[in-house]
Amino acid sequence: MAKTASSRKWLDRQHSDPYVKQAQREGYRSRAAYKLLEIQEKDRILRPGMRVLDLGAAPGSWCQIAARLVGPNGSVVALDLLPMDPLPGVSILQGDFREPAMLERLCATLGGEPLDLVLSDMAPNITGMSVVDQPRAMYLVELALDLARSRLQPGGSLVVKVFQGTGFDEILSAMRQSFARVVSRKPKSSRSQSRELYLVAKGFHP
Ligand SMILES: C[S@@+](CC[C@H](N)C(=O)[O-])C[C@H]1O[C@@H](n2cnc3c(N)ncnc32)[C@H](O)[C@@H]1O
Repeated sequence: MAKTASSRKWLDRQHSDPYVKQAQREGYRSRAAYKLLEIQEKDRILRPGMRVLDLGAAPGSWCQIAARLVGPNGSVVALDLLPMDPLPGVSILQGDFREPAMLERLCATLGGEPLDLVLSDMAPNITGMSVVDQPRAMYLVELALDLARSRLQPGGSLVVKVFQGTGFDEILSAMRQSFARVVSRKPKSSRSQSRELYLVAKGFHP
């Protein structure tokens, strides 16, 4: 099949990206691993025994890290639109997080126990039109925050990918209402031209 200009550009970027090469060498499923590892180094969000939910988890590098750090006494539930290869210690759900039926399946999988940490690296398919992309991205952040509010235990944490632009200030202040401390992180492995950053919220108070 003929490659489009944008897929050629993506392939070129992948081939020259040091984090892609490092991920291949170190056995991570994607370069996104280094974003979570840097957040972990600064904010110590993952600890042994934790119950973790990973939204937008495929292909699974955040799950690899989370499963390793929570260890055998912890648990990780992963959800994505796309299929994901199995990982030891990770329960995988495939579906659209925006769908009420998916939310029901997720709640059934999580059971009655509250979560210690919600991770969301979800990002919608980008059209290139910010009037379309930004509200779609913000909607996913709002849903992740709603879920965190309903499933986290007091003191729990949320790490969520956000795109700077319309709605950013509102989501930041909404998070500040529910968490004792919210900081923004732009990991070195997050491309400088991307408006993505991560909000790390700790100390949930219902
Ligand atoms: C940047 S990737 C996540 C990479 C992942 N953190 C890792 O370490 O491999 C973003 C993911 O969000 C997922 N996603 C986007 N919208 C979604 C939705 N509505 N429901 C579930 N997953 C979604 C995409 O399918 C994609 O796999």
